[in-house]
Amino acid sequence: MTTSAATAAGDGLEARLLPIADLYRGREGAAIPLLAAMQKEMGYIAPEAVEFMARELDIPAAKLFGVATFYAQFHLSPRGRHIIRVCRGTACHVRGSLKILERIKDLLQVEEDQTTEDLRFTLEPVACLGACGLAPVMTIGENTFGRLTPDMVKGILDKFE
Ligand code: FES
Repeated sequence: MTTSAATAAGDGLEARLLPIADLYRGREGAAIPLLAAMQKEMGYIAPEAVEFMARELDIPAAKLFGVATFYAQFHLSPRGRHIIRVCRGTACHVRGSLKILERIKDLLQVEEDQTTEDLRFTLEPVACLGACGLAPVMTIGENTFGRLTPDMVKGILDKFE
């Protein structure tokens, strides 16, 4: 069990999920909104949250896991407080986005689509951020950073606790 999964369980998981269970009790075919509500409450879909909901609603946990793994919008592991999206689209690639990505991985000791151990950042390469004129581009949360060089990366990351 990861630290965060333990935290989710320890943070009164049942008390937090019970109101959601009550909302969806007896509603067939509501797995997607149910999981969305669980993720909104918990930050991600923890296995113990799925088990709890399956028991409460008397539906197979495998069914919920199946839906949760099928849709990219659901996250089965904890996410960082800040989501870094590094553009790997063509315009950004041509202007050196791989070096930006490598610098971030190096500084944070994290791989693509993973979260740092302190849950500070999740790193997600994406296809195009729609700001090709600013290539290479990354976003952190709602903030966009363009015309990046590898040497700019540390100073930017340092702004996010
Ligand atoms: S290719 Fe990077 S923003 Fe479009």
